[in-house]
Amino acid sequence: MRRKLVAGNWKMNGSLAANAALLAGIKAESAGSRCDVAVCVPAPYLAQCQSLLVDSPIALGAQDVSMHESGAYTGEVSAAMLREFDCRYVIVGHSERRSYFGESDALVASKTLRALASGLIPIVCVGESLAQREAGQTEAVVLMQLDAVLKQLPVDDVSRIVVAYEPVWAIGTGRTATPEMAQEVHAVLRERLAQISEAAAAEVKILYGGSMKPDNAAELMAMQDIDGGLIGGAALKVADFLAIVSKV
Ligand code: PGA
Repeated sequence: MRRKLVAGNWKMNGSLAANAALLAGIKAESAGSRCDVAVCVPAPYLAQCQSLLVDSPIALGAQDVSMHESGAYTGEVSAAMLREFDCRYVIVGHSERRSYFGESDALVASKTLRALASGLIPIVCVGESLAQREAGQTEAVVLMQLDAVLKQLPVDDVSRIVVAYEPVWAIGTGRTATPEMAQEVHAVLRERLAQISEAAAAEVKILYGGSMKPDNAAELMAMQDIDGGLIGGAALKVADFLAIVSKV
């Protein structure tokens, strides 16, 4: 049985004061939750959040990582640096990075490898746009995105990733995939993992992301292949985030 994971993706939001209030609220109420809980915070706040989460079961994560190990890459943040701040997770290939910052499938694969090499758990995001869904290309798009990563990974490393299915048209829009729509894509992704390794497919968590809220989280997470959520907007409100965690 895969343990579920609810991960907040704070995106480019927060301040020292807001982060402290948010984490205080989450920490107070999430003890004893039935799932793994993580927060993926902006890089400048890693040190703050690391110290606020000492002795807490809530894991820390980052939202991006460099494909390079170290060196003359101005503005980049390395996987080793993230590890120094006790990051457990790092999001790679979020659709906002793919679309606003031109991240290619190949770059996402390189970042995934770099994260794994430093002992981070990459949360590899895949998802189709509205136009692609309407053109019937959902499966092809998500498999192409996943395959770009899988073909670079040694088989033994496949079980070390987390996958997040985030339909682009559902992110921050209030439009959610129905549980059935999401489950269909999650099953396709799991099937592809199983073609490489049955054992890995049984282990890899596949999260859903895209307007997951307290009122739709339970039915989404009840689906067979949905192993939790990657939560954007609702992760910035203590009550909403906790309500989602409590739905597991
Ligand atoms: P949302 O974002 O929950 O605000 O739709 C999810 C994400 O982009 O990870």
